[in-house]
Amino acid sequence: MTIKWQDLIEKAWNDRKVLNESDEFDSWRVFHGYTEGAPGVVIEKFGTMALVEFKDDIREDLDVIKDALLQCFPFTLIMAKGDQTLGLRLKNRMFSLHGDLADAPEFTKEYGVYYSLLADTMHNCGLYLDARPVRKWLANHSEGRRVLNLFSFTGSLGIAALKGNAKAAIHLDRSKALLPRIEKSYEKNGLDFGSRSFVKGDIYKHLPKAIKSGQQFEGIILDPPPTVYKSPYAEHQPKGQDFSKLVSMCSKLLSQGGWLICLFHRYDATWDESDAEIIESSGHTLKMTERFTSECDFPDDNVDRKLRVTVFEKI
Ligand SMILES: C[S@@+](CC[C@H](N)C(=O)[O-])C[C@H]1O[C@@H](n2cnc3c(N)ncnc32)[C@H](O)[C@@H]1O
Repeated sequence: MTIKWQDLIEKAWNDRKVLNESDEFDSWRVFHGYTEGAPGVVIEKFGTMALVEFKDDIREDLDVIKDALLQCFPFTLIMAKGDQTLGLRLKNRMFSLHGDLADAPEFTKEYGVYYSLLADTMHNCGLYLDARPVRKWLANHSEGRRVLNLFSFTGSLGIAALKGNAKAAIHLDRSKALLPRIEKSYEKNGLDFGSRSFVKGDIYKHLPKAIKSGQQFEGIILDPPPTVYKSPYAEHQPKGQDFSKLVSMCSKLLSQGGWLICLFHRYDATWDESDAEIIESSGHTLKMTERFTSECDFPDDNVDRKLRVTVFEKI
């Protein structure tokens, strides 16, 4: 099937006029192929850089895609990023289509907060764009709170909380390689990193320790990957995002009136069912207070396929 890239990209660009006109951020998903005519292809914009990510081998179409993008916006760098599952060598699936990688932006700015980027990484370049409303929510609901950012990745959600005047943010992730990227964002935002902001290690090791030592937080961010792998520090076999086990621990770390914000990336249960599972796992110490989802750059008529975000409060 021949894909009419020029038409698809132009339409997607025009459908996001409201984002293009915003002066509060310059990064969004330009093309969401799953619902916009090319499953397996997404294009994201980070300032003047575009990343074309593909799970199908569309290398023959990349020039047309590049030209279509340049007709919409004067991108200075357009990168192709093919998925690992294509089985191609790295140099055949990650390369510049336009511009020089050395000119890749180091940061993007969203709602007044800087986030560090790494253009040529195999995985996400540093900021999950579907979570933009989560970062906005955190900036508005963190004042004076000690916030625990679990599965922190580059720390973006905790940094949003700090820019919303959180008293502290503790990031937990098992990958030490993320540390310099988190520090870079702190420095750019004029935040003090300190020695206790990042806990490197397995969540199933550290949460029981934190419970044992009586730690309490007024906010917990819980954003596990779609599949949490079995941990040497836990006996159970995690199922999907493993919310039941994680929430049973998080609810013990949350002080009364504290919030827990959960990001659901799986679609094997309805939103109501997922929320009920969280409440049940907390021993009914949590109540649901708010729900929202990703914005118009992730178009999908089926709301059950979008990122789901639920906020709970400790009763
Ligand atoms: C999808 S990312 C989280 C995205 C992040 N919340 C954000 O908004 O940028 C998943 C992260 O979980 C971390 N991770 C996965 N399993 C873990 C575990 N058992 N303990 C600690 N971190 C883990 C990975 O290293 C990765 O950085």
